[in-house]
Amino acid sequence: MAKRPDAIPTIEKITEEARFLLRTLLRDDLFGNTVALTEAEKLLEPSLSLGFADYCAFLKKGAYLAIDRTSNTVTVTERGRLISEGLDDPNFHTDIALHFASRVRGGESTRTAATPMRPPPLHTATKPGLAPVNEIAGRPAAANPDEDLIAERYVRYDAIGQGSLGTVYRGKDVLLGNAVAIKEVRHVFEFISYLSRDEIIRRLRREVIAQSSLEHPHVMPIHDVDFEITFPYLVTDYAQGGSLKERLFHAKVDGRSQTAIPVDVAMRYLMQIAYALDYAHAQGVVHANLKPENVLFDRMGNVKLTDFGLTRVTEKDSSQSAPVYVGVGAPSYMAPEQLHGQEPVGPAADVYALGIMLYEMLTGSLPGRRSPMPSAVNQEVPAHLDDLFDRMTRDQLDQRCQTMSDVLGHVYAKHPADRLVGRGALVLFQQDPLRAAAEEAAGSDAAQADGTSVEDDISDDSDLDMPVTDPRLKAPTEEDLK
Ligand SMILES: Nc1ncnc2c1ncn2[C@@H]1O[C@H](COP(=O)(O)OP(=O)(O)OP(=O)(O)O)[C@@H](O)[C@H]1O
Ligand SMILES: [Mg+2]
Repeated sequence: MAKRPDAIPTIEKITEEARFLLRTLLRDDLFGNTVALTEAEKLLEPSLSLGFADYCAFLKKGAYLAIDRTSNTVTVTERGRLISEGLDDPNFHTDIALHFASRVRGGESTRTAATPMRPPPLHTATKPGLAPVNEIAGRPAAANPDEDLIAERYVRYDAIGQGSLGTVYRGKDVLLGNAVAIKEVRHVFEFISYLSRDEIIRRLRREVIAQSSLEHPHVMPIHDVDFEITFPYLVTDYAQGGSLKERLFHAKVDGRSQTAIPVDVAMRYLMQIAYALDYAHAQGVVHANLKPENVLFDRMGNVKLTDFGLTRVTEKDSSQSAPVYVGVGAPSYMAPEQLHGQEPVGPAADVYALGIMLYEMLTGSLPGRRSPMPSAVNQEVPAHLDDLFDRMTRDQLDQRCQTMSDVLGHVYAKHPADRLVGRGALVLFQQDPLRAAAEEAAGSDAAQADGTSVEDDISDDSDLDMPVTDPRLKAPTEEDLK
């Protein structure tokens, strides 16, 4: 994305940002040991005045960092580490001044607002077979634009990131004009040797169909798939609001490391996720792959859960050994019974993962064995959330909160209602009240006519105009609200 012309930085700002970039790349808590270039770009780009690719090109040229093109990863060199720690190296200042001379305020720039400030992102410019993106024109700058037209409908732009199965690209549905995300399933076929290609596709198809069957405002809908081609793909909405991973990251780099996400916002995210999963569980679908990367947000900042069940695509047969999650799932969010391969994992595994994300949202860090309770880290957190976190993340299955309904029940009982539903918040139905009333009316009519109960009537496949409500989908009960 081209930066705004009014954001032309000074050389001091560029120097500070280059140090910040190196410092951030060194943070294990954000990236782990290996830093994927695409992920780093996605997380850092919005915080920089110039393009992430510009900084990387400069830092690579000066050997402050190294880029491995094969694995698309980036490593900070010893030289870069010293700079990140604030070493006042005159060479660094000179190099920056020379390299960025034409980009800085007061420099010899002839650039206008219509001229891109930076080359295309590194991954699009260098990845073989992937057309670079002309962001001004908003379409691929390939010699043959059809090269990146998938199924004569979707244009593929730059890569957003890589996951367990392949790469996710930003794209566009040319028929409707909407932004989409295209997940291309590719490297799983190269990395997984204990499963045949057919078996991987069979499992993937099963999980994708399961997610697709979930019609819920907080579940990402799947628009299109093709499992028959060499590299199968799925198409979903492009999450304009990014992921929870990015939201956690930006809360941190904005300097609020102790209070990652405001408590009431975190509560809303928790509830949206819990409602989506309560519904999914009632349909017999356990997510089992909950982590901040899979909690996406729409333009208005509402949750869209995605990638249900991807851990099940590559897991080994648990009758032979504990399942091996090859590059899939994030162990920090996995309940002990899931990590140890006690099949099948149930809704309580999702409760565990959501509990870990609750801690992360409230404190800005992942909990460890001896971590303080959320309210001890962040004084904005009410004590009842310590209790909720504790009950959601117990190792022992029988001591843990079992269902999302339990989680929601706790929130409604303990968190002040006016902090949950303020003006401007959408109020969603979990159960259609008109349909429920119609069912009730039809039930009592029928009962009057033939003496049968409402339940008999519904399970009898009655000829109500509206579909029968799933009886497992209940609003919080009096009991929950206690
Ligand atoms: N529809 C989407 N809109 C925007 N970003 C997305 C979308 N789908 C995925 N992403 C982002 O793209 C990146 C790669 O996603 P991908 O699903 O391939 O990997 P993952 O979520 O890290 O792991 P997993 O494969 O276990 O889901 C992640 O940062 C994810 O948040
Ligand atoms: Mg994902």
